[in-house]
Amino acid sequence: MTGSEIRQRFLDFFEQRGHKVVHSSPLLPANDPTLLFTNAGMNQFKDVFLGNEKRDYTRAVSSQKCIRAGGKHNDLDEVGKTARHHTFFEMLGNFSFGDYFKEDAIKFAWQFLVDDLGLEVNRLWFSVFEGDEEVGPDDEARELWIKAGAAPDRVLGFGRKDNFWQMGDTGPCGPCSEIHYYMGDDPDDPSKNSPEWVNGPGDTTMEIWNLVFMQYNRIALDEGGFLLEPLPAPSVDTGMGLERITAVMQKVKNNYDTDLLRPLVEFTADRAEIR
Ligand code: SER
Repeated sequence: MTGSEIRQRFLDFFEQRGHKVVHSSPLLPANDPTLLFTNAGMNQFKDVFLGNEKRDYTRAVSSQKCIRAGGKHNDLDEVGKTARHHTFFEMLGNFSFGDYFKEDAIKFAWQFLVDDLGLEVNRLWFSVFEGDEEVGPDDEARELWIKAGAAPDRVLGFGRKDNFWQMGDTGPCGPCSEIHYYMGDDPDDPSKNSPEWVNGPGDTTMEIWNLVFMQYNRIALDEGGFLLEPLPAPSVDTGMGLERITAVMQKVKNNYDTDLLRPLVEFTADRAEIR
């Protein structure tokens, strides 16, 4: 399957489930002084999550062009060191604006990856927010993954750094649940396809999709510090790296070896006459 076919398959899957297909917004956000570059699919829906803007749909799907080269989500220092970072990428995302919440978000993700794309279940890992002093543990997400079909020992808890998503210092945010994929050659070897590689070093296991359960607006207080204010309606914001899921589907170990990026590398190498 080509990267373009995977993108279309994602858009079709969610369109068939009542989502409005929305174009990628520009890389330079139109109305958001908190952002230099668009860094996530949810950016163009920020005001919808906050309840400041209404659209004539409550479900959306997009493939958003993103740059993560500064600010809160900065991948620049990882480029060239990992097989999965490249500052510019496309983020496949489905969104619910006060419509469905955790149960359907998790069910859709399982159906797309396992039933539609046919990924091997024994390569998948799931992470959930384990809670801290401000927000409690997301036991519900853990149960929902198990209900969807995950083995309980493949659902792992992590803290705020990995499992609480916010677009910046302020704005919509909430606990999140990620899907990670074991990229190695020995899925049946429990010493290799093992939990310590999830959010661990290297590319053995790679995050492919993040499901954010938008529940709060993080606001800056005049007296200093921040406050989490509940959103008008619990919502969903997901993001899957198109180049990452393409690497998985094309069984290559490096995003630069997918059909989305390899031709650019070849073209540049030819022009630079370095081959
Ligand atoms: N906003 C979340 C992220 O960027 C999910 O799309 O990971």
